[in-house]
Amino acid sequence: MPVTWTCPHSNAVLCLAVSTEGVVASGAELGELTIWNEEGHPIGNIQLNGGEDVTSIAFSPVCATRLYVSHGENISVLDSRAFKEPVETFIINKEEVNCISVNETDSLLAAADDSGSVKVLDLEKKKVTRSLHRHTNICSAVSFRPHWPHSLVSCGLDMQVLLWNVQKARPLWITNLQHLSQDEEDTDYQQSPGQLFNPPLAHSLSVAASGNTFCCGAEDGKIRVFQVTGTRFEEELFFKGHTQGVSQVHFLKEETQHFLISGGNDGKVCLWDTGKKTTQQKKQKQPKNHHLRKSNSVHAKAGSSGHKISDVAESISAKLSIEHGEKINWVSEASLQGSRSVLVADPTNCITVYQLGEM
Ligand SMILES: *[C@@H]1O[C@H](CO)[C@@H](O)[C@H](O)[C@H]1NC(C)=O
Ligand SMILES: *[C@@H]1O[C@H](CO)[C@@H](O)[C@H](O)[C@H]1NC(C)=O
Repeated sequence: MPVTWTCPHSNAVLCLAVSTEGVVASGAELGELTIWNEEGHPIGNIQLNGGEDVTSIAFSPVCATRLYVSHGENISVLDSRAFKEPVETFIINKEEVNCISVNETDSLLAAADDSGSVKVLDLEKKKVTRSLHRHTNICSAVSFRPHWPHSLVSCGLDMQVLLWNVQKARPLWITNLQHLSQDEEDTDYQQSPGQLFNPPLAHSLSVAASGNTFCCGAEDGKIRVFQVTGTRFEEELFFKGHTQGVSQVHFLKEETQHFLISGGNDGKVCLWDTGKKTTQQKKQKQPKNHHLRKSNSVHAKAGSSGHKISDVAESISAKLSIEHGEKINWVSEASLQGSRSVLVADPTNCITVYQLGEM
């Protein structure tokens, strides 16, 4: 039976994060920010200045009581022990921030915004050291890669997925999901002529603990898993995860890092085992990704015809599928009172806790 935590306010919960010490933070519309203990009791609630929606929260990987929160164009730093006014507020983006990520040593923060930019803030020097600009539409998600300093991935509503070298402020590899989807001949989609599918606008991103595998959730309902090798990445696996847009993907931690949870606009929350793939479900070599030359003149369109990829994901099925009912705003993994759980935020002012049990 799922457990419901009800917020001390009536706004929709948009994002969640869990600290290494089991403190849960939830961000909601109109600047509402709440922290909870493991039992689901609110232990702090504030309304951030400006009253803009809280879109993303990241706990410091180094100091469990420090959290970073994006609201509007602002990014605030808070202390969960003295949960009042922000300790500090940065305004580094020109448009609304959609997603933030902090690197493992808590020295860099990346913020993806509506203009398509990713700003990289040096948290010690307190200034923007890099501005990554390549997305041509809203940048919806960004994540540093564990174990790979100076490396991050981003995705956006321009359907592009980018691997960046942060130091050089330049993309190393770009893949356009629309071009990719033309090669994905899935058998589970009995595509009839003239039938239209939603374009693969990329909504969500998650990097596995190894730092070498990441996945992306898109508007076409598909989840795509990519493998990074050096300065490039290739699609390794794809599957239809949801009947509508995939708003959330989230690789589980360490020992089960090939498990991923997803949430969709179809109101479902699923658990997938991407490690169970057979060679048949693996994609063959992707001919369409292009290494970027200095001239930036290579477009992903080149070479997009004539390639048939015969081995596709046929039978990856959800290990767990929960009919949550409401559109999913956020999913997060948590270990609460010794049991492994998934926290779900939706357009209500409640957080739903499902136990994962033994996997
Ligand atoms: C950003 O922060 C400033 C100062 O705290 C506040 O006045 C402003 O309303 C905030 N803007 C947004 C968009 O949140
Ligand atoms: C985080 O960023 C700093 C500053 O660039 C870098 O020195 C450090 O190696 C990064 N840490 C990791 C683990 O990526």
